[in-house]
Amino acid sequence: IPVEDFDLVIFGATGDLSHRKIFPGLFRRFVAGQIPETSRIIGAARTRQDDKAFRNEIAGAIVEFTGVKKTDPNLTKFLELLGYTAIDAKGTDGWNELKSRMRKGAIHAFYFSVAPSLFGDLAERLHSHKIADEGSRIVVEKPFGRDLESARALNAMLAQHFSEQQIYRIDHYLGKETVQNLMVVRFANILFEPLWNAQFIDHVQITVAETVGVSGRGAYYDKSGAMRDMVQNHMMQLLCLIAMEPPYHFDPDAVRDEKLKVIRALEPVEPDDIVRGQYQADEDSSGYLEDAEDPESRTESYVAMKVKISNWRWQGTPFYLRTGKKLRARTSEIAITFKEPPHSIFDMSSGPKANELVIRLQPNDGMNLKVMIKEPGPGGMRLVQVPLDMTFAEALGPEGGDMPDAYERLIMDVIRGDQTLFMRGDEVEAAWAWTDPIIEAWDDSKARPEPYDAGSSGPEESLRLLHRDNRRWREIRA
Ligand code: BG6
Repeated sequence: IPVEDFDLVIFGATGDLSHRKIFPGLFRRFVAGQIPETSRIIGAARTRQDDKAFRNEIAGAIVEFTGVKKTDPNLTKFLELLGYTAIDAKGTDGWNELKSRMRKGAIHAFYFSVAPSLFGDLAERLHSHKIADEGSRIVVEKPFGRDLESARALNAMLAQHFSEQQIYRIDHYLGKETVQNLMVVRFANILFEPLWNAQFIDHVQITVAETVGVSGRGAYYDKSGAMRDMVQNHMMQLLCLIAMEPPYHFDPDAVRDEKLKVIRALEPVEPDDIVRGQYQADEDSSGYLEDAEDPESRTESYVAMKVKISNWRWQGTPFYLRTGKKLRARTSEIAITFKEPPHSIFDMSSGPKANELVIRLQPNDGMNLKVMIKEPGPGGMRLVQVPLDMTFAEALGPEGGDMPDAYERLIMDVIRGDQTLFMRGDEVEAAWAWTDPIIEAWDDSKARPEPYDAGSSGPEESLRLLHRDNRRWREIRA
């Protein structure tokens, strides 16, 4: 279904995210027939160039990141929607021109794909030049602050000119198909929810492992680290969707209220329940300290932690989270290990094992439910655990298996005015309030992160987190 006619302004249109994700995503939605041909997409950045040069730049990016041919008629048509205005975010240049490009009657959305230090300037100028009105939407990228104080300041700054209903804070994990599927699996099946609590779930493991390092973006990453870059936002969102109570309706505030309750119920993490690591150099690749440029850096490229949720549903069920760079494989998954049956009628040596549900977010998005069956044969009652395994793409077939990129979905939601998959201001602040003491304790201590080898599963120390609870991490493999 096409969205309504819109004018979308992308601030930071010449940047990496815009080239890699935003424009390729918009192009794919255009090809899918979702973007009306009357819509306009206006790039805005500091570079002085005209519409034609900008169209060329974006054509190059779309060819590179979608694989479409430069001569594709869809690409030619899409480029006609594009315009460009050189703008000075902190000055006056370009704002009147931008205003003259906006049409009355169309939906107006402004995407801030720029450093957070410019959010306030952009918001103020959109307001003072009367470019934005009460119906306009603004989209802001991460990082949304670097601690509670800065996040509050950003929220307050945006709130001077825009209401919460107009602000779309992006966490691209929420745009991933399988992340949305977490809610569908839980709340559209009767099968799981009755067992979805501490009485039946032994523990949960959330893993987001990457093979890439931080080379090329060391300057940003070194000020961030895995905790700010991945845990405070992406992993927190996964945790919330797994742990939250059923919202009364699939509606933005109903969903976000429930997520917020989870964040508020998180116990502070004990120093002993957290391990941070830093990848080391080997013959083939650079170590974190070279990638980050600061040879003394104590920033973590890996973090593993045991998280407790202090509420009725989850009392006694730990959630183990880990994420890191330069690990053995690129894989993101949520593994739910159920408790063993309370009584076994089978002989102990072949008795049933705990069921396990693994939801793979990437790659090969899908689900794997491990169940016990009898091993075939006349040799008595021998039990074996087997997987009920499916990838969504295979299950849905060639038509249904097309997985749009997270950004495609999220940008269309902005135009539709649906905030369900965007973070609310209080949610972001609550997440920082929980993360801040952990980071402060690291800053105060002189300890260095644990070293780990590139291509490994992270530092040895992280094994201890589970061993002492008589549990084991799942293997990290593609
Ligand atoms: C970004 C982080 O938000 O998410 C990156 O800044 C990280 O460091 C990326 O690599 C992971 O996203 P995805 O979609 O590749 O899992």
